[in-house]
Amino acid sequence: MTFKDQLASVAAEVETTLEQLLRPSGTLTSGEPPLWEAMRYATLGGGKRLRAFLAVESAAMFDVDRTGALRAGAAVECLHAYSLVHDDLPAMDDDDLRRGKPTTHKAFDEAIAILAGDGLQTLAFEILADPATHADGTVRAELCLGLARAAGAPGMVGGQMIDIAAESAAEPFDLPTITMLQAKKTGALIRVSCEVGAILAQDADARKLLADYAEHLGLAFQIRDDLLDVEGDEETAGKRLQKDAEAGKATFVSILGVDGARKAAADEVDAANAALATFGDRAQWLREAAGFAINRIS
Ligand code: IPE
Ligand code: IPE
Ligand code: MG
Ligand code: MG
Ligand code: MG
Repeated sequence: MTFKDQLASVAAEVETTLEQLLRPSGTLTSGEPPLWEAMRYATLGGGKRLRAFLAVESAAMFDVDRTGALRAGAAVECLHAYSLVHDDLPAMDDDDLRRGKPTTHKAFDEAIAILAGDGLQTLAFEILADPATHADGTVRAELCLGLARAAGAPGMVGGQMIDIAAESAAEPFDLPTITMLQAKKTGALIRVSCEVGAILAQDADARKLLADYAEHLGLAFQIRDDLLDVEGDEETAGKRLQKDAEAGKATFVSILGVDGARKAAADEVDAANAALATFGDRAQWLREAAGFAINRIS
């Protein structure tokens, strides 16, 4: 099985899980405002599902229930989809294309997009807190705590704040600041995705190793995103490119240049894989995921 096939196979399972979870608890009546429709639009039928893949494959290294792993992966994807809906809003990056289709605020309107993002965020925690995800309430609380820290002010939202602040900063950010920005903005969610397996398995030592792997993977992943903005193909990427420099974004490419960013990404992949050493062959897909993070074209 190639990495591409494995990713596609897990993505299909995640899609089925998301399709079941993204439904109103009651029956939809005709004429109801399109909140669920917008939440489904933003989440289903697109995206690489890398975060869910990391959750499912980290869990597969341990003897844990696959349904719980798929639900945790789906929860992270809901959170991620919300972050993209809000990232694309006119007040943020002002984008009109995402995953090859109009952004949610373009397909619906801004108010609906904001609410769909809000709904996706809370749904993520509802999924994790549901006993169907794990029988032990302590494990469910640990999943919720991990996602809350990754998604909130210490993580993704804090990173997005610094990303926006960079646009109007008097001086360009230095490398440590950009690294911190990206670790929060993108790295935090990738980190908790990788920790899912160890949280479900209640293995604290493995969790530390997976967090170490994920911190490097997250940086490599965001460096590739920054490189794609400069050298990617819009149709393949499914989003507008060549925007970061003009918007005054602080990226790895803005500070290191294209070659420097490529080298930094490769170094991060080496460091990520070094953290997996003790897992041996069990970590094959996670190892290949790191290579995918820097070679992907979308
Ligand atoms: C895009 O994430 C936003 C970043 C954090 C760079 P992905 O590249 O994982 O987007 P999808 O989920 O595949 O659309
Ligand atoms: C967004 O980063 C990261 C999020 C938290 C959503 P970018 O703004 O670089 O992501 P793209 O390039 O729009 O996908
Ligand atoms: Mg952004
Ligand atoms: Mg953006
Ligand atoms: Mg980007």
